[in-house]
This record gives sequence, C-alpha cells and structure tokens, in this order.
Amino acid sequence: MKIVLIGYMGSGKSSVGKKLAGVLSLPFKDMDTEIEKNEGISVPKIFSEKGEVYFRKVENSTLKKLLQLPDSFVLATGGGTPCYGNSMETILKSKDTVSIYLKVSIPVLASRLFAERTHRPLLAHLLSEAELNDYIRKHLFERNHYYGQANNTIDCSTGTIDEIVGKIVLKLF
Ligand code: S3P
Repeated sequence: MKIVLIGYMGSGKSSVGKKLAGVLSLPFKDMDTEIEKNEGISVPKIFSEKGEVYFRKVENSTLKKLLQLPDSFVLATGGGTPCYGNSMETILKSKDTVSIYLKVSIPVLASRLFAERTHRPLLAHLLSEAELNDYIRKHLFERNHYYGQANNTIDCSTGTIDEIVGKIVLKLF
C-alpha cells in the first residue's frame, strides 16, 4: 500500500509521515528530498535558479515515478504537489494508494511557519505574521479544491504527532 500525505506547508506531513511509516514498518519518502536527490540542488535553489514552473514539472514527474514503483511506502508530498498539472488525479488513480489530507487551521499554520518562513521560497518575502496569515488564507482558498479530494481528511490543528498517527491508523484499518 502507498500512503500519500498531502497538506499545506507546516501541516506536519514529514514528521507525521516518518512516525506513521515507523508504526506501519514501511519505508518513508519525502517529495522534496526525492527532488533534491534527482536534481542535485536544494529546493530553494531550484526556485531561485530555474524558477517555479521548472520545479512544478520536476515535482509532477517525480510523483509519477514514485507512484509507478511496485513498493509500499509512506510519502510526504510538498505542499503544492497535488495542486499543479494532473498530480491530484494521478494520486487518486494510483493503484493501492490512499491519500490523506492533514488539515491545519490558518492561525496554527501561520504561527508554525512564521519563524521558518525564510527557508521557504514561497513565504520568505512575508514580513509579519498577519501578512503570512493573509497569504495562507488566500493560498488555501485556491488549494482546498485539490486537498479536499483526498480519500481521507484528518484534523491536525491540535494533538501530538502520536495522536495524529493514531487517527490515521484508525482510518486506514
Ligand atoms: C511548497 C511546499 C514545500 C516545497 C516548496 C513548495 C508549496 O514543501 O515543495 O517550497 O508549494 O507549498 P513542504 O510542504 O514540504 O514544505
């Protein structure tokens, strides 16, 4: 089985994914790490040197390659992965694949992302938490169309990583 975690930046896809993979004894894969391995440079560098359009193309082809593997794994996607090209459709049509949206409220995302926004190409220009809050609200409005198509949605605004993993396991089995 492939378990694909989707959700906004800061929603906990990587930390929840690693823990979930451990609980289920499955390998863990992270979309940004896979892209960085294939491209040989960091995601912020891909954005600044090659541009976002190039990044989205690589992201889409990396997703397709991963989902074509016969293996089982837990995949933490990037926040934008399901929102470009036919990526969400690809996830939904992939064999033996379950998608899970880790849903987090806007104020919780803004407070989590404010301190680390400088490492994130899409957020680095935002100067205050209020501005970040506003950006996330607009961005999520566009992205909810894709996130909302996931097979399952888990409310992750509160609760520890272990509790969130527990909720996912309950949904899966
Ligand atoms: C992005 C999210 C990032 C990374 C890139 C773009 C997005 O991944 O792929 O900076 O468009 O939301 P994380 O969600 O893992 O931070």
